[in-house]
Amino acid sequence: MNLRKIETPTENITVDLGTRSYDILIAPGIIDNVGHLVDERMKTSKVIIVSDSNVAPIYMERLSISLSAVGINYDKIILPAGEGTKSFSNFENLLNNLLELGIERTTTLIALGGGVIGDITGFAASALLRGINYIQVPTSLLAQVDSSVGGKTAINSKIGKNLIGSFYQPRLVIADTETLNTLPRRELLAGYAETVKYALIGDSSFFSWLEINGTSLIEGNHAVRVKAIAKSCKMKARIVAEDERESGKRALLNLGHTFAHALESEIGFNDYLLHGEAVAIGIALAFELSTRLNFCSSIESVNVRNHLQSVGLSTFLPKHPTSEWNSKKLVSLMKKDKKSTQGHPAFILAHSIGDAFIAEDIDLNEVESLLDDIINH
Ligand code: NAD
Ligand code: GLY
Repeated sequence: MNLRKIETPTENITVDLGTRSYDILIAPGIIDNVGHLVDERMKTSKVIIVSDSNVAPIYMERLSISLSAVGINYDKIILPAGEGTKSFSNFENLLNNLLELGIERTTTLIALGGGVIGDITGFAASALLRGINYIQVPTSLLAQVDSSVGGKTAINSKIGKNLIGSFYQPRLVIADTETLNTLPRRELLAGYAETVKYALIGDSSFFSWLEINGTSLIEGNHAVRVKAIAKSCKMKARIVAEDERESGKRALLNLGHTFAHALESEIGFNDYLLHGEAVAIGIALAFELSTRLNFCSSIESVNVRNHLQSVGLSTFLPKHPTSEWNSKKLVSLMKKDKKSTQGHPAFILAHSIGDAFIAEDIDLNEVESLLDDIINH
């Protein structure tokens, strides 16, 4: 296999966290250069690559070859693909497998995959030997624009999603936009919802750019992908640098998520509704709620909804898989969300496209009536 040496990454963004600062490198084909980048930037005795059963058959060999090419020893662990992998029992098995491979303080983990692999590998890195280095090599659009950056690591508990985890930053993020070529279209669209989220939070010109370029991004234009991922990562890097542990501004990244989590929780966090698909619906609802509460013009809410729909994302609730949607039940799920305070959910609303804000005292009757209208649509 030919190794393509990319001397200069197309984009290099720094997450500025003092001694824990790290770079996000984004370029098509950069996976072939991971070994060189690790060798150049980190002191590591050995690498263990953690991947999943969908991603490993496609990308493990290229990553392994790039490590061998610079003389880095590596082992690999392949986990089943899917959200179910973020369980307590899988986490225990992963830790034991890693320990059996003989890790030391200078061992580096590489998470090769989507957000599931990134989250469980990052959490393992934070727990092993009180913290070893890890690198994110995100291969889904959601992971490239969001989950690989910012150091939130987690697994799920029986009580809820992402309830067990840590803030633990990677040492490097290497995003190869070419890996998106093999990502199922539905997953790509789900990641696109998180990309639009950044524009809606704080950059109206990015939203206008996405209105023009969103379809090219989805169809596979690498220059557009690099630019959109870089824009998203720049915004996330800035927010994380300001508020690493989400005591304030980082909550803006949850635009659409209060609605999304209630929908996912009602359905049971499975492939019937992907997280990004739920976020797209949640974003449309957050803008509609902003309009109903006179924060945001209806033209802007309609623009948001139209754009999401134009790329193929639904902004309506899917048919309920087992019964009927119930607005009261959804609101009660929102009250139990881990980001609620004393049973009152926080919402991220908007004054306009590119100007989101945190709203903690929203009248839940308004939310219920919005949900009723959507359910009866
Ligand atoms: P995922 O990791 O399950 O990946 C989605 C699917 O695509 C999987 O089947 C995976 O095997 C497959 N896949 C990934 N890359 C591929 C590629 N290049 N080619 C072919 N198949 C590929 O899910 P995701 O959407 O990447 O991430 C969702 C997870 O991320 C959730 O667990 C969520 O809680 C977490 N998350 C974390 C953060 C954070 O800040 N840590 C933020 C958002 C989401
Ligand atoms: N995905 C939200 C965050 O990283 O804070």
